[in-house]
Amino acid sequence: MNQDDIRREKERWEEETVARFVARRPERRPTFETSSHIPVDRLYTPADVEVDYLNDLGFPGEYPYTRGVYPTMYRGRFWTMRQYAGYATAEESNRRYKFLLEQGQMGLSVAFDLPTQLGLDADDPLAEGEVGKVGVSISSLRDMEILFDGIPLEKVSTSMTINAPAAVLWAMYIAVAKKQGADIRNLRGTIQNDILKEYLARGTYIFPPEPSMRLVTNTFEFAHKYVPKWNPISISGYHIREAGSTAVQEVAFTFANAIAYVNAALKAGLAVDDFAPRLSFFFNAHNNLLEEIAKFRAARRLWARIMRERFGAQDPRSAMLRFHTQTAGSTLTAQQPENNIVRVAIQALAAVLGGTQSLHTNAMDEALALPTEKSAQIALRTQQIIAYESGVADTIDPLAGSYFIEHLTNEIEHRAQAYIQKIDDLGGALRAIETGYMQNEIQQAAYEEQLAIERGEKKVVGVNIFTSDETPDIELLRIDESVAERQRERLRELRATRDNEAVRRTLAALRTAAQRDDVNLMPYILDAVEAYATTGEICNTLREVWGEYEPAVIF
Ligand code: 3HC
Repeated sequence: MNQDDIRREKERWEEETVARFVARRPERRPTFETSSHIPVDRLYTPADVEVDYLNDLGFPGEYPYTRGVYPTMYRGRFWTMRQYAGYATAEESNRRYKFLLEQGQMGLSVAFDLPTQLGLDADDPLAEGEVGKVGVSISSLRDMEILFDGIPLEKVSTSMTINAPAAVLWAMYIAVAKKQGADIRNLRGTIQNDILKEYLARGTYIFPPEPSMRLVTNTFEFAHKYVPKWNPISISGYHIREAGSTAVQEVAFTFANAIAYVNAALKAGLAVDDFAPRLSFFFNAHNNLLEEIAKFRAARRLWARIMRERFGAQDPRSAMLRFHTQTAGSTLTAQQPENNIVRVAIQALAAVLGGTQSLHTNAMDEALALPTEKSAQIALRTQQIIAYESGVADTIDPLAGSYFIEHLTNEIEHRAQAYIQKIDDLGGALRAIETGYMQNEIQQAAYEEQLAIERGEKKVVGVNIFTSDETPDIELLRIDESVAERQRERLRELRATRDNEAVRRTLAALRTAAQRDDVNLMPYILDAVEAYATTGEICNTLREVWGEYEPAVIF
């Protein structure tokens, strides 16, 4: 039986069996579609999908990596269970990291507070009210030493969600590792360091694009030369999706940004195979289980093709899309918060069936506050149950061959490619951001989604269907208000006891180097950090040279 026979038989089925049935029992809706507005048919057969197995799927650990980036995937090693955590002072966060490691977490993931993310010290007037709120306050190497006290950095892999001042916080991490006697060539971890998505969707930028991109390529070069197991960037689609994009836009805009980073590194004189193997990515795991699985598979194949066909990468590792996934914070509801445990489990399952390398599962209370130990433990246990009890980690890419999954994988790849071509035509990601193209596409998608929820067309359990007027009865984490004062006191003491001449000298050297565009700033930043210059003093020195980013007003 060939595809034409199947197609004809399907038509007969529709006209006879289906028509008779829906005449008495119509379907729930006239049409069905995914979050990316890809139509979803009633049934898929071999006649609905074209798959050239060896070219489009291949084998895990080999180009185009559609089925996974490693030859044995989770049969050899589970994905890294890496819970994003951090709040208040370094002491509290250090305690939480040790708690999570004791509960079986496999890697660390540092959340910094907003002042740190914006390159401001805890005692900066602009930091008022935000110190230690959405993450840990790190104003100096002293704080970093406390943050990792008792944690051997040569034995863990640590992700740091830091962007504009990523080079500074990475230098602090390297300095702590050196103080522990570690060989920094063995240091594993990731800095998010994705400034383009900050301009596009998240907003924690400091400097204008050109010096920001220079800092990024400086970290690529420094990692390649001195910290070869470090991932100097985590090119993020998570926040683009959280801003309301569709799954297709998440892939397309992330890759448009990634292409800009690759071009910037090539322009800075780096060879593509010297940095591409250590590019890492960060995606969202959203509610539509099957679309998300297809999204990850399409992303792996699309990135592999971009790296080999567009950039001529020869190293097989340059075409491997290694990524972290976080379940979708934007889907968490404040109403009936326990429902979020189920949402997160389904989203985590999508990430695992989609082949993620590292995973954060949101806690049920995160629509209300930062997670408590209890809710953080349930979130971690969710991953452990999927890993040890569900069986889905025992074979690779088990959904492959599903007519619908392969159709959706093709559709997402093609639609993402079309967006990338459009952004290429606009002059690349930076131009598309400056003209507001990507922001407008995201805002349009977010608006349509919100409208569908408000109209009740899109159901959210507990919010616009199966509602109840119960008030959430769960314990929430409270941030101790004295955090800011304790941080200010620690800074006063640091400034009074450190070698201020060394601070002045290293900051002056950094300023001089920043005024040139042909030197790598990482060694200068490392010197300043090791002299206990603060996050704010280092970033202010760079502000004096480069100024700050002023977003274009988009109408
Ligand atoms: N058999 C044998 N070895 C295996 C294996 C297998 N099956 N699978 C993997 N390994 C090896 C790998 O080869 C690797 O060794 P290598 O580095 O020598 O090649 C080692 O095990 C670790 O594997 P991975 O590198 O795949 O896993 P990691 O967890 O170390 O790294 C990553 C994953 C995605 C590459 C990395 O970049 C990472 O950890 N990213 C995390 C980013 C993150 O946590 N971000 C949080 C952001 S929070 C945020 O922004 C949201 C907020 O804004 C709200």
